[in-house]
Amino acid sequence: GSGGSGGSEPTITAGTAPGFPPFEMKEGGDLVGFDVDLLEAVVEETDYSFEGWEEFEFDSLIPALNNDNIDVIAAAMTITDDRDENIDFSDPYYSADQSIIVRADGDFSPGSLDDLSDRPIGAQKGTTGEGVVNEELVGSRITEGQYNAYDNYVLAVQDLENGNIDAVVLDQPVAETFAANRPVSVAFVYETGERYGFGIREGDSDRQSALNDGLSTVRENGTYEELTQTWFGE
Ligand code: ARG
Repeated sequence: GSGGSGGSEPTITAGTAPGFPPFEMKEGGDLVGFDVDLLEAVVEETDYSFEGWEEFEFDSLIPALNNDNIDVIAAAMTITDDRDENIDFSDPYYSADQSIIVRADGDFSPGSLDDLSDRPIGAQKGTTGEGVVNEELVGSRITEGQYNAYDNYVLAVQDLENGNIDAVVLDQPVAETFAANRPVSVAFVYETGERYGFGIREGDSDRQSALNDGLSTVRENGTYEELTQTWFGE
């Protein structure tokens, strides 16, 4: 290889999908966020050299990994059985449920999935939020046409603010971040017990164990805690 990804050289090129604050987002043209800092800190603890970030839409990350365009996915990606059939994951590094957000100044404040009946709903393509919409809403509480799929959650939240949709289903920590910065609020939490992991190619046990060791190290040396303080104020 020539120093790129996917070869036998000890390098890591990472992929993410910005527009998911505070895990990954663009600020003044720069890619920033918890995942960005965490993965870089973890790689720092390994023998791999970090080659940089590539940005994709969320539903293109697994194909990009399997095409060797990137070596690691760091995108608040939930470890699911379906994904586990195509890729491998590191140990979990964060937990989340889903939330339903609505306009903060609106008169619609649902308290349950039933309250979303017959409403236009949004989520990001390929996410577990979309999974909740498909499993719990489409075909029962809403029609297929009432589900609006977006390339990223920033676009979904804009459409919510504009009144084109009435609710968005997304990961709770991200819902809280939007609620703190935009005119939207969390209506209720739908518990899914998700855990995020770094994605690696199936069978790439070298990077998998390096990342797991790096994760334990940053948990033990206080870096993980510092990063949660920085990005979540916890
Ligand atoms: N945790 C959810 C999932 O795995 C949403 C992740 C979206 N991530 C992003 N960077 N846009 O499907």
